[in-house]
Amino acid sequence: MKQGKRVGIVGAGNVGATIAYSLAMLGSCHEIILRDNKIDVARGKALDMSQAASAVRSHTVVKVAESMEELVNCDVVVVTAGSPRLPGMSRDDLLMINANITKEVIEGIAKYSPDAIIIMVSNPLDAMTYVALKESGFDRSRVIGMAGILDSSRMAAFIQEKLGYGGGQIRASVMGGHGDDMVPLPRYSTVAGVPLTDVLSEGEIAEIVDRTRHGGAEIVGYLKTGSAYYAPAKSTAIMVEAILKDTKQIYPCAVYLEGEYGFNDVVSGVPVMLGANGAEKIIEITLNAAEQEMFKSSCASVETLIKTLNKNKFFEGK
Ligand code: LAC
Repeated sequence: MKQGKRVGIVGAGNVGATIAYSLAMLGSCHEIILRDNKIDVARGKALDMSQAASAVRSHTVVKVAESMEELVNCDVVVVTAGSPRLPGMSRDDLLMINANITKEVIEGIAKYSPDAIIIMVSNPLDAMTYVALKESGFDRSRVIGMAGILDSSRMAAFIQEKLGYGGGQIRASVMGGHGDDMVPLPRYSTVAGVPLTDVLSEGEIAEIVDRTRHGGAEIVGYLKTGSAYYAPAKSTAIMVEAILKDTKQIYPCAVYLEGEYGFNDVVSGVPVMLGANGAEKIIEITLNAAEQEMFKSSCASVETLIKTLNKNKFFEGK
């Protein structure tokens, strides 16, 4: 029997488990179901998290699905499954490996949780969101990639570090794909409403933009055996909460574009309104010529990946 909201998480590695932990602490869903091939590890983490939930008097229980069949009737399914990004490896190197994993996982979701909203987290993020959309056959509002919240949180943290003040009052904005050519938007970034350009020099802003673009790699460089997970997980949990609570809040997320910003048949990060039906609305903000150019080259990188998938006949029969 299903009680309350159910969230499935495919992949119980560092990112998946930390998403589950964040959600369990928030208590915004009744059940979290972890699916991982390492079933005993998932079992151990699920027990540990259910106990942590009890400690904070959260009603959320964390369970394990031994197969995709048990990931049934979820309201939201988060996909973190995939090979992680290792040092020296670009997100694109992961393309074919993770496309095949995603394909299999999405087939299971479409079959057993046909009404779910899918949140993609696996890299390369925009291409995997594209794969999930094509493989599920779901409406584009129900297949959303997580990256923009992460990238803009990184930018905000770097702004805070540079300024030495303003923590918690910084709104940073990043659009485009989750790659080295993502599009940080200083013009749309503020500290307590004050434009960034009023508190930092051009050179300082350029440094922050560059560090944001390589924010994931900076952490991989330190961790050596894996990539970031606290900020990616928290960013994902924010999206899950907005959907479960139908908040209608605007967040930068990766969605399939059908004419927005002048692009078609590609996934990229844009501001979207999240609610019970997923990405309910895409917001088109005004970009100047330089920003448009950056957005275009970011979309072109994702298009290159999609072309590689097509060249490998990945979507054959679809
Ligand atoms: C990151 C990688 C994993 O941004 O995409 O942390």
